[in-house]
Amino acid sequence: MKLNKHYSELNESYLFSTIAHKVSAYQAAHPDRDIIRLGIGDVTLPLARSVVDAMHAAVEEQGHKETFHGYIPSEQGYEFLREAIRKYYASHGVALDLSEIFISDGAKSDLGNLLDLFDVDNTVLVPDPVYPVYVDDNVMAGRKILYMAANAQNNFLPMPDDSVHADLVYLCSPNNPTGAAYTVEQLKEWVRWAKANDALILFDAAYECFVTEPGLARSIYEVEGAKECAVEVCSFSKIAGFTGTRCGYTIVPQAILSDGQSLNKMWLRRQTTKFNGVAYVVQRGAEAVFSEEGMKEIQQNLDYYRANAAVIAAALDEAGVWYCGGKNSPYLWMRCPNGMGSWDFFDWLLETANVVGTPGEGFGPCGAGYFRLTAFGDAEKTREAAARIVAALKTL
Ligand code: MLT
Repeated sequence: MKLNKHYSELNESYLFSTIAHKVSAYQAAHPDRDIIRLGIGDVTLPLARSVVDAMHAAVEEQGHKETFHGYIPSEQGYEFLREAIRKYYASHGVALDLSEIFISDGAKSDLGNLLDLFDVDNTVLVPDPVYPVYVDDNVMAGRKILYMAANAQNNFLPMPDDSVHADLVYLCSPNNPTGAAYTVEQLKEWVRWAKANDALILFDAAYECFVTEPGLARSIYEVEGAKECAVEVCSFSKIAGFTGTRCGYTIVPQAILSDGQSLNKMWLRRQTTKFNGVAYVVQRGAEAVFSEEGMKEIQQNLDYYRANAAVIAAALDEAGVWYCGGKNSPYLWMRCPNGMGSWDFFDWLLETANVVGTPGEGFGPCGAGYFRLTAFGDAEKTREAAARIVAALKTL
């Protein structure tokens, strides 16, 4: 037996596990402290009423012989959910074929599993800082990774460099962790670069629901020709609070071909072999997200998180701290005060304000000196955390 040697090249633990352990240790040592968590981007509002009702009805169906559902007829997902997603995209001007939509248990699984389709010899291009999953998945597989700096000079939105060649590029917009969001015009450049390099864009649209400003992309397919060179991964976690319910989807366009092979066919082959689909009950809940009532309820939840983002932004303004994000994104990306390192600031903020955030360096070397705060918390706790952050920063 030989183990995958690449696991030894990974950091000892996944970023959010490391933070959870640090916070647990701190809480154990200080049981009286009321810690407010604005670290991992986990939602706090419950599922929308229409989603819960749809899931209850589906559970009831599963309890009767006449309405019981066994294996899912297509591992790609029930047609009712794929049709709801197709219509959602159509409402943003993007035409999809049902055969291009694949339902999964979330974006994180798909982001890892998609790599089954690509040779280990491909070079991967990722922004730095970046959602650590993109990097870790490729380290595990032993792929060569190139980094492109996302920094204040490029507004945390790196653009393609024609002197750099890669085969796969990860783009996440609105971005995790920086909250920066590409315009459709900027993404046109990426599509042009991908075509010139015969490369594939893996576009993570998990935060698309936070886009409010015109001109910003909600989907890579808003760019003409993107269906020939981009796969889009999305999730119900952020739009509808499915972090604990688990459902997502991936779009693999029919137009992506390499050496005469269809990527869509390969992904279907992979999924039908290795995946038995998402629970019927969960898919019914996800379908309800796109109902008229569901969409209204979900907008209310998104507005609640947007209000949290505004509260954190106001606190950072008051403290005179530079930040970006928080407008078309649930994340605020702040510069640590007085040139403090991001892990030092993490420890200092935990100790001084009992507030947890995510050190920018955990997302890559270019995140050094930055810190991410999430707007997915409880509103009252977010107000309290914002006040504590302002008070703590004033002591510096
Ligand atoms: C984050 O905090 O970056 C996200 O919650 C991670 C995720 O969605 O897996």
